[in-house]
Amino acid sequence: MGRSTAIVGTGSFVPEKVLTNLDLEKMVDTSDEWIRTRTGIRERRIVDEKTAASDLAVKAAQQALEQARISPSEIDLIIVATVMPDMSFPSTACLVQDRIGAKKIAAFDLSAACSGFVHSLAVAHQFIKNGVYETALVIGTETLSKITDWTDRNTCVLMGDGAGAVVLRPTDEGRGILSFCLGADGKAGDLLKLPAGGSRLPATHETIDKGLHYIKLRGSELFKIAVRVLAKAGEEALSQCGLSSKDVCLFIPHQANIRIMQAAAEKAGIPLSRLYSNIDKYGNTSAASIAIALDEAYRRGKIKEGDIILLDAFGGGLTWGACVIRW
Ligand code: ACO
Repeated sequence: MGRSTAIVGTGSFVPEKVLTNLDLEKMVDTSDEWIRTRTGIRERRIVDEKTAASDLAVKAAQQALEQARISPSEIDLIIVATVMPDMSFPSTACLVQDRIGAKKIAAFDLSAACSGFVHSLAVAHQFIKNGVYETALVIGTETLSKITDWTDRNTCVLMGDGAGAVVLRPTDEGRGILSFCLGADGKAGDLLKLPAGGSRLPATHETIDKGLHYIKLRGSELFKIAVRVLAKAGEEALSQCGLSSKDVCLFIPHQANIRIMQAAAEKAGIPLSRLYSNIDKYGNTSAASIAIALDEAYRRGKIKEGDIILLDAFGGGLTWGACVIRW
């Protein structure tokens, strides 16, 4: 019998500071009612100045390792999905490796924006399925608040900070990760981007004055694409392993907007009662959102052994990624 990959531990961490819609009403021209009805968000967590992506990642990882009863010395691979690493290099994965006391194993970051966690799961799955590694730690961690323009009501109401992590180990074929579907469309990359800070526009006084180090989002255009892409990726991943939407016990999409999640579920034929959302508490935490939701759903007893779970993400790039898991 072949090998597959099981999630044997989950963890998450969000910063203490809560920023409510009422707080935002005092910062920009918006209202609690607009934010709730258009996005489903009530509040989000925000890091303090000193906290970086690796700080959140380490806490989420330690929780996942504890749940899996696996010691850091047993890890063979660490992948961190983030758009906001502590710095360009060393990678956040290397910082995490050191801080949790893992051995000198493979550790790297993966850049696929909000789809980064699902992409990282798919990559780690290859190593485990093929017998290269036994134990992998996959983390999604973001501090989007640091690249949010807090005077731009179009974006600042959407974002939040947090991290989620999973520990992966081999299992028998037919269990754990059953299939995935990854994709990208670079042509539509302009819809969501962080223009400056890379080699195209290194940081200068001018880039800072023009606000180019903040997230730029063409929200309503992305909205329609997101619904279509989520539904299609989910359907493809399900059909790849011979399943359909009626088999899905829990649908955990990227938490970008409750209306996107609901429309994607409807389009894919998944009842809304099977949709898991915590966007009301955390907003859009990019690569962390599915990992946080998965951990929360598991800890709240929403996932039982044998359940079919569909993770489904889209994000900057554009990128998308769906993954079917038999728990
Ligand atoms: N408060 C009050 N009014 C607002 C706000 C706000 N915070 N933001 C926008 N508006 C206004 C707009 O200015 C516009 O006014 P106008 O009609 O006078 O021009 C009006 O509300 C409607 O704007 P739309 O953009 O059409 O509103 P929409 O219903 O599309 O909601 C939103 C906007 C929430 C951004 C939605 O389009 C969305 O969620 N898009 C997808 C976002 C997404 O994909 N995120 C994931 C990627 S981002 C990431 O993950 C890091």
